[in-house]
Amino acid sequence: MSASKEEILRAAQILESGGLVAFPTETVYGLGADAENPAAVANIFAVKGRPADHPLIVHLAPEANVDHWAVDIPDAARKLIAACWPGPLTLILRKATHVPNAVTGGQDSVGLRCPSHPVAQALLRAFKQGKGGVAAPSANRFGHVSPTTAQHVRDEFAGDVRLGMILDGGQSQVGIESTILDLSRWETHGAVLLRPGHISAARIAEIIGAMPHMPDAAAPRASGTLESHYAPRTPVVLVSSNELNARMQQWLASGKRIALMHYSAASVASAVAQRTLPAVPDAYAHHLYASLRELDGVGADVIAVELPPQAGAWQGVNDRLRRAAHGAQLK
Ligand code: TXA
Ligand code: MG
Repeated sequence: MSASKEEILRAAQILESGGLVAFPTETVYGLGADAENPAAVANIFAVKGRPADHPLIVHLAPEANVDHWAVDIPDAARKLIAACWPGPLTLILRKATHVPNAVTGGQDSVGLRCPSHPVAQALLRAFKQGKGGVAAPSANRFGHVSPTTAQHVRDEFAGDVRLGMILDGGQSQVGIESTILDLSRWETHGAVLLRPGHISAARIAEIIGAMPHMPDAAAPRASGTLESHYAPRTPVVLVSSNELNARMQQWLASGKRIALMHYSAASVASAVAQRTLPAVPDAYAHHLYASLRELDGVGADVIAVELPPQAGAWQGVNDRLRRAAHGAQLK
């Protein structure tokens, strides 16, 4: 399923007249509004139930002028843009003065990203003739699992008339949110990895010549970096491969209904529902959120997740799993 040309034009008109449109990207679906219309942006926060001081990413068409949105852009940013855009990399840069506080959460930086999904690109090219920016968080209620299909978005916002339209673009290819790299303090702090994703730290290092740093206390705030985030309603517990069977036996003995998400071949018969994910990080990420949503819907007492390998290529997946599991309490 993919949105038609007419639907994309209608969606662009809704955005231009201050409305909200959910649209597919290669990472997850976004809930978009005109980034230069503070009232429209305020509606995103209302619909999501998100605290107003959390900044949003501005999505740009491939031909867009980055210098319209940011100032003091370091060379490293230009290199990353040349190498990774369109694609799942968000750059935090010093904002141009006209970028509304509603978008930046009152910070002096702005997050910019050019998505590679063809429907997202068509929408961004149609909106304000490609010269605008669409502010969009992931199209889920605050703290929930991000949507990777149009149906997930419908499930999140069923019946909310403030959502003008949902564009369908099939299942998001990457499956986890973009890598976020802060370059707004380049001269003093270099590049800081605020959120790991498909574009790995190692790949960034290849392009800019140095590994990005981990966030320090003064790094720009990112809501995706809250400890508890991306969480299903059912408690999620991460268990290492060699402890999985024993843990499941314990839960079964105390009458728990277990939903299992694993990746190694060992099959476990005692779960009420089970998803076997690929043992490859990119393919695992592609299926991650849809699998969590499905397992969240089976009425289990716990979602047991086999802890993936800890190698660098798994950093994005492990980050999302750790947050999904944070603070989980079994009833
Ligand atoms: O893949 C993605 O990035 C998806 C798709 C829709 O593009 N969007 C997404 O948006 O994940 P959201 O709002 O769920 O997460 C964006 C993150 C938040 O953690 C936010 O705090 C951070 O980006 N962010 C945005 N602008 C920022 C800024 N100026 N400084 C620091 N963090 C920023
Ligand atoms: Mg989000």
